[in-house]
Amino acid sequence: MKDCCNSTKNSKICIRKDKKIFKLPRRFTMKKCKNPKGFTMKASCAPYKYCKYKGGKLKKKLKGVAVITPNKDKIEGIVYFIPYKDNLKIKYNIKGLTDGKHGFHIHEYGDLSEGCKSGCSHFNPDNKTHGGLNCKERHAGDLGNIISKNQISKGEFVCPDLSISPTSKYNIIGRMIIIHEDEDDLGRGGNKESLKTGNAGERIGCGVIGITKSSHKSC
Ligand code: CU
Ligand code: ZN
Repeated sequence: MKDCCNSTKNSKICIRKDKKIFKLPRRFTMKKCKNPKGFTMKASCAPYKYCKYKGGKLKKKLKGVAVITPNKDKIEGIVYFIPYKDNLKIKYNIKGLTDGKHGFHIHEYGDLSEGCKSGCSHFNPDNKTHGGLNCKERHAGDLGNIISKNQISKGEFVCPDLSISPTSKYNIIGRMIIIHEDEDDLGRGGNKESLKTGNAGERIGCGVIGITKSSHKSC
């Protein structure tokens, strides 16, 4: 018996758990069938009716979150790490930075015992040198710069290889996001420090990356 939820593109029929038989492919994909509207769509979406349940429970989607709590530099904000295709979308909203560019990285450890300092070096599972977000040679944790205007830095971008999956080599849960005082030179500074830290200067804001639910609903 072919489960409708696991049917492939080439499947001709599927038999649902209640033994009802459906012809495939359907007019609407399972993804589009999340909130079916109208008779035609509801009929086409019928095979997927029980698909959102796995093992009798709703499958929970997760995302990463880091809260930058106000410190002596008065920097505060929140950063989300949302699975996006095979990559991560990073959404940030930071207040209190001076106007201009600020280095933005994921550092190796989520350890605040000595403040942002105990985050240690940039997250670098491939043992590479420092670079920018879209450089071939870069630490996996190199996210480039964020720009602040009128003390607000807000935006989103997609990062090519990070993950929040515990089995991934690039998993960032339990690590640290750090905002620096200066601009990151993306490895093009022409000195030794540039290939290590991008000369981004002091660590003025940081937060440990944890896991949370993907929706804004309360617990
Ligand atoms: Cu850094
Ligand atoms: Zn780096």
